[in-house]
Formats: sequence, C-alpha cells, structure tokens
Amino acid sequence: MERREELREIAGQLRRYLDDLAAFEGRQFPLPPSVGEAKRPPAAAAALAEFRRQICECTCCPLGKSRKNFVFGSGSPEADIMFIGEAPGAEEDRQGLPFVGAAGQLLTKIIEAMQLQREDVFICNVLKCRPPNNRDPQPGEIESCEPYLKRQIQIVRPRIICTLGRFATQALLKTSESMGRLRGRLHEYEGTPVIATYHPAALLRNPQWKRATWEDMKKLRLEYDGVVL
Ligand code: URA
Repeated sequence: MERREELREIAGQLRRYLDDLAAFEGRQFPLPPSVGEAKRPPAAAAALAEFRRQICECTCCPLGKSRKNFVFGSGSPEADIMFIGEAPGAEEDRQGLPFVGAAGQLLTKIIEAMQLQREDVFICNVLKCRPPNNRDPQPGEIESCEPYLKRQIQIVRPRIICTLGRFATQALLKTSESMGRLRGRLHEYEGTPVIATYHPAALLRNPQWKRATWEDMKKLRLEYDGVVL
C-alpha cells in the first residue's frame, strides 16, 4: 500500500514536470485580458525615442568604434516586464536589435511559454555595443554603459525585471555572488523587483538548466500578475 502511494506521488511529480516542459517548449495559451493593456501615458514612447536619439552615436568606450550598430533595445516602451541581457552578439550587432540570434529565438520561446509576446515586454542589454569576438564585457565598459540602462528603466518603469545570466545580474544588482546563489529569490533594483535566471545562450549549452529557468519564469509571472503557469 505504502509503495503504491509512493508510486502515485512519483507519477504526480512526473506529470507536473512534463507539463512544465511542454509549456516551456512553446505551448500557446490565450492571453488574460489584462495583459498588454496600456497603463502609462504614451509619453514613455516619446521619451524612449528621444533618449535613443541622444545616445545612439555613443563613443564613450572603445566598443563605440568597433560596433556595426548600436543596440538600444526593443519592445513596448510601457512594458511591465523588462528582460536584461549582457551585450549584443554578432547577429544583434548586424541587425541593431537585441536577442535576434539563436539565444534570442530561445528567449522568444520562453516569453511565449509565459503566455506573453515579445512585443509586450522590453528587451535590452547592459552593454549597447558588441564586445569583439563575444568576449566578456569589461568593468570599464559596464561602467560607461550603465547610466543608459538606468535611464531606460526609469522611462519604461517595468513592474518587474528579469536579468539574464551572471553578467547582467551582477551588473544590475552590484554583486559578485554566483548565479547559484542569485537564482531562486527575489531581488530589488531601486524599488523594482528583480528575478535572476540563466542566460538563454547558457541554456543552449546546458539544456538541463531549462527546468530551473522555467521555475524562475513561473515565479516571475506569479509575482507580476498572479498568473499560475
Ligand atoms: N546575448 C545577450 O546577452 N544579448 C543579446 O542581445 C544577444 C545575446
């Protein structure tokens, strides 16, 4: 009898695990009516466009000379959710848009699995220009680009921020803690809740981290509007 109970419990866990994976791999759900409703005046769009105009020729650090395109960010200027990555890669540099390469396609899948669309959120990076050969961002580059991210957050005023990977998380939260310690709890950036999760590029290399990432996304959605994924 006890054995049977144990098996039933294991079967339940497996069911939940498979449901999570199915959702993560892009199952579509109808949007609750409240999601995507404009909540701020269109001034945010004008302010963001003006800010972009002001900074898009930036040469404050050497990356300003090697880049093809300045990658400001994309999505809704009134987004409730902001995703912040590390820095543009080759494809992002080529197109001038964030997260449009292989990692970006996975990020889009994650957003859709959260019952959202890319257009509903705002996506940007800590660095606005591509580090050559995708090397790690250097402290001086992060320092000189940081005011841009700060201003973007002030204009968009997201209700929740999701940092993607160690660099973005450490840069925003001003910490040197590992992802292992940063994941799984709620942080705060100037009054806005922050959830840290793995970078989609890391998920491509380590698919076994997808499960944990999906747990983070469920937490994000619950914290944001109470929707249980
Ligand atoms: N990785 C990032 O951190 N940002 C991008 O825009 C693309 C890949």
